[in-house]
Amino acid sequence: MEFALSFAYWPYLLTVASVFLAVHHYFNRSKTLPPPALAISVPQEKPTQFRKTPGSASIANTQSVWLPSAFKFPKPPPYPDWSLTDTKPLAYRPFRYGPKYFITMGLRRMDFSEWIELDNEFLSFHQQKAARILERGDKCCYTAPDAYPAAIELLEELAEYLPARYPSLFKRTAVGMDNLATGESFNIVQRPLVEDPMVMAARWIQDDLAIMVEGANGQYYLEAGATLLTGFWRLQDKLGMSLDDIHLSGDVPGFRQKLQKGMNNFFLRLQPEAPMLRNNYFIQVDGELPWSTSIGSEDSKEGEFGWFTAEKDKPIEQLYFRSERQSLRRLPKSGGVVFTIRTYFAPIVEIAKEPHVPGRLASGIRSWDDDVAKYKGRDRYEKVLLEYLGREHQKQLDSGLQLEKEDEARSYPW
Ligand code: HEM
Repeated sequence: MEFALSFAYWPYLLTVASVFLAVHHYFNRSKTLPPPALAISVPQEKPTQFRKTPGSASIANTQSVWLPSAFKFPKPPPYPDWSLTDTKPLAYRPFRYGPKYFITMGLRRMDFSEWIELDNEFLSFHQQKAARILERGDKCCYTAPDAYPAAIELLEELAEYLPARYPSLFKRTAVGMDNLATGESFNIVQRPLVEDPMVMAARWIQDDLAIMVEGANGQYYLEAGATLLTGFWRLQDKLGMSLDDIHLSGDVPGFRQKLQKGMNNFFLRLQPEAPMLRNNYFIQVDGELPWSTSIGSEDSKEGEFGWFTAEKDKPIEQLYFRSERQSLRRLPKSGGVVFTIRTYFAPIVEIAKEPHVPGRLASGIRSWDDDVAKYKGRDRYEKVLLEYLGREHQKQLDSGLQLEKEDEARSYPW
């Protein structure tokens, strides 16, 4: 009788044991720190349950699985009159007038055709990326095994998109794509690929790239990246981290209060049919696109670089405007989320010539609260920058600038 009773409890004991194991796994995983770039062990998981509908955003009990969606990214029309020598970088000016700076996700829908923006700085970006790939290798570029299918899908998507959008630069071939300006030929079907898929993708576009993969707990993890021109952060510090840890470790202002919940929900719900965009901006106190050496060497230990090392009050000619245009897309087959980061970089003295820009930028910078100001290093450059912008704004007013007409001339993010 006693034996029969304990036998009857087995299912309950097994349930308790599996709940214990699942909780243990969850906490271990969320504490996983990124290992050094050369010996990465990003968690490997085999799916055990399936989502109910293709492309749905529900999370399975223990593991998340993306059932391939039939969605096909529409073929874009050629970029109007695009030229490798004459198409200028787009003038994103994503700052707003004060008095208050709002911390929001700042997402907007992206037109499919506008996924990747290339311009007459392509060859310079391409050459800088190639040099960084040689010098820094997998400190900047890496694909974890979990993200490999998504990285291959990214190559396939780009090999469809780029020749259609920029036919004078790229030509589709039976095995991949040719770059008509550099003479490079890329084979995306041979195995093994000649190089890491993220490295290959990085050579095709001006953007930096990241792939986020959903983990067992519904969190998204950075499992592949080619981040060669990020200026202020390093892949080696963030690889393998969840979205939360990426942002918390960077002390992103207002993250817990204003961003965390919405961002996580957004990732769970993001659909291939609805890609999104956001823009940001920073001031940099040197003209180095790949890495801002003013905040310390890129080879410093973690925590030993930052605004605190940057020289104060550098001359205006050394101040640069850095703005990222980021896109987010769910890949339909693998379910990975591709995050592109296109950096636009120009001297302050150049952008301040544009109507309305000095006045609006100065107002925007004044509206940062203390946390935002600390994050963006305002005390390093505000004196020089705000004085200069004030003078340039006054000059524009004296030449007849009509402030009330600004809304007609430009609207966010321009
Ligand atoms: C809905 C999507 C996202 C939102 C709303 C968001 C928001 C933010 C914000 C507000 C910042 C501060 C700088 C800025 O104003 O941009 C930031 C920084 C950052 N974000 Fe995100 N982010 C998103 C997705 C991602 C993804 C997918 C990655 C993956 C690589 C990422 C990596 C970073 C990094 C590395 C930083 C710099 C952190 C540091 O300073 O150490 N973000 N993000």
